[in-house]
Amino acid sequence: MPAPNVSRKRAHRRPLAASLAAGFGISLAGLVITAAAPTGSPPPPPQEAAGQATQAPKPPDVIYVPTPQGVVVEMLKVAEVKPGNVVYDLGCGDGRIVITAAKDFGARGVGVDIDPKRIEESNANAKAAGVTDKVKFVQQDLFEMDFRDADVVALYLLPTLNVKLRPKLLAELKPGARVVSHSFDMGEWKPDKTLNPEQRSVYLWVIPAKVEGTWEGTAQTESGEKPCAATLTQTFQEVTGTVSLDGKTAPIRSGRVNGDLLELTVMGEDLGLGDSGEVKVRAKVSGDTLTSADESMPWKATRKPAAAPKS
Ligand SMILES: C[S@@+](CC[C@H](N)C(=O)[O-])C[C@H]1O[C@@H](n2cnc3c(N)ncnc32)[C@H](O)[C@@H]1O
Repeated sequence: MPAPNVSRKRAHRRPLAASLAAGFGISLAGLVITAAAPTGSPPPPPQEAAGQATQAPKPPDVIYVPTPQGVVVEMLKVAEVKPGNVVYDLGCGDGRIVITAAKDFGARGVGVDIDPKRIEESNANAKAAGVTDKVKFVQQDLFEMDFRDADVVALYLLPTLNVKLRPKLLAELKPGARVVSHSFDMGEWKPDKTLNPEQRSVYLWVIPAKVEGTWEGTAQTESGEKPCAATLTQTFQEVTGTVSLDGKTAPIRSGRVNGDLLELTVMGEDLGLGDSGEVKVRAKVSGDTLTSADESMPWKATRKPAAAPKS
């Protein structure tokens, strides 16, 4: 699909001017009041000043710069956008990411931008691309957007904004949803993939299921059904802790959650499995249930409710 018809020069100049005006507007206005007000003039009534402050629209947190069309395609490819997926672009600019997702990947898309001019452009570009039935553009602050139904969230913001958005992405997106960012990473949340199309950086994260806690259940071993347990601590996709089988406990050597798949490595000897070396323990996570993803030793465990905080 050709890039939506947006002049890069125009696209840079206008929002930058708007952004500078907004940035300087506040301090210049302050200077004008200080300089122009005759000595002894009463200050504006406080309720009026407060009213003006609440009415002022929030300026964009970052100026508009479009992602090159070739990079858009690579972002959608690495995020494995499939027909029927719902793709959000938080700070959608001229709408090119969701329009491309709809037109070339069969997805549905939602673009959100705080700047009404960008929403106007996005709607015009969607019409020109013939995808108005598949995409929607909303003028809103992205930090207030409900994007729980997203399969993929695209970002081209700033490092500080990505980190500010991180808790909302991790809390609201379903396990397995993908976050793809042009140019900027997520601080301590390390990407699952990084690529460099057209000398740009593109980062991909897969939302991990939440596995932290104490799990208890049973495993079908060669000598019958035995109790099993795990105590897991989670930092983003990384998992540490212990796994127990029939009273024997093994430290986790490496642990990771990839979407809804938990993968742990322990030493078989530690679990009383003879001289078996490294053993991979894999399980599907569904809410508070872990179900073995390997047929060799079926097992199932549920998460113990967290203890109520002491009053
Ligand atoms: C760098 S541009 C990226 C445009 C588009 N996503 C792309 O990659 O081509 C960032 C966009 O975020 C928008 N934006 C900035 N702050 C925002 C906010 N708080 N809520 C929604 N949009 C915002 C800007 O208006 C701008 O269009």
